[in-house]
Amino acid sequence: MEATLNIHTSTGDYPVFIGDDNFKNARDFVKGKCMIVTDSNVEPLYLEALKNELKGIQVHSVTVPAGEKSKCKERLFEIIDELAKYEFNRQDTVIALGGGVVGDLTGLAAGLYMRGIRLIMMPTTLLSMVDSSCGGKVAINHDTGKNMIGMFYQPVAVIANLKTLLTLEDVQISCGAAEMIKYGCIYDRELFSILDDRENLLLPSTLQRCIAAKDYYVTRDTLDKGIRMTLNFGHTIGHGVEKATGLLHGQAVGIGMYMETLMSEKMGITKAGTANKIKAMLEKYNLQHSVSQDAEWKKYLFHDKKGAEQGITFAFIKDIGESALLLVPYSDLEDLL
Ligand code: GLY
Repeated sequence: MEATLNIHTSTGDYPVFIGDDNFKNARDFVKGKCMIVTDSNVEPLYLEALKNELKGIQVHSVTVPAGEKSKCKERLFEIIDELAKYEFNRQDTVIALGGGVVGDLTGLAAGLYMRGIRLIMMPTTLLSMVDSSCGGKVAINHDTGKNMIGMFYQPVAVIANLKTLLTLEDVQISCGAAEMIKYGCIYDRELFSILDDRENLLLPSTLQRCIAAKDYYVTRDTLDKGIRMTLNFGHTIGHGVEKATGLLHGQAVGIGMYMETLMSEKMGITKAGTANKIKAMLEKYNLQHSVSQDAEWKKYLFHDKKGAEQGITFAFIKDIGESALLLVPYSDLEDLL
């Protein structure tokens, strides 16, 4: 069984498998007992199918409610309590079967339990396949913000079963598309052209290209102290929009990419017309490009956790496929927005 590609990090490499019906690949990476963590949407669709592939192995499972609210300390400790109850140790394995919420929550539980137990990511949404399952960022939310309690904890393998995309709602596909468009914008101009044809969106080769783009940044800056921040393109405004409007993450990132690019065009950093190209691409995937200027989201922007005392470091693009990190002083920000 050959991996589609590998993620390279400062603490080691791991394979990513993209394919149809590849739940069976999990068997090769499970050691000892196995705890599958999933959510209430995914459980009825795929838990049994995965358990069937793990016959002969002692398997337990935890199902958390679907949705962002599960990224909380109660659900985190529910998983940890189950691991302790069944006497899991570092020779055993945890599987995250679900989207970004399940991956982030389970990844953090796996990283904390006994200072780290084997983790397999099995993403079931487009967004988690191309982004959150790869690169080791795991976290829960706190009253003061999203992903405030987290760590870097890498899985031993990522197994993306494309069949699971068939049961996703259109809006979830759009959210994944937003992150894929992001990779085209910051790193891979040809990918941006490929995405121009919607038929290409779910091709294994397109997903592979996105994950390869992610690997480019994770390899160079696993701990997100420098160039990896480029992956935040669209996320600085996007996080504010997400909090203020309740839009889904990918929808908010789409808006963020357009608005941040309008801003950098205004600053003279970005080739004129680039924001319009992004807008056209977003429309293709039924993603909106703007929210009202006087909306609440601006308030959150000034509280962005990546903000330093002097201003906010934005990931901008100069042109499609070419990016730059830039600190924008708070004093300039109001005029630019
Ligand atoms: N999702 C952004 C990152 O992994 O750095």
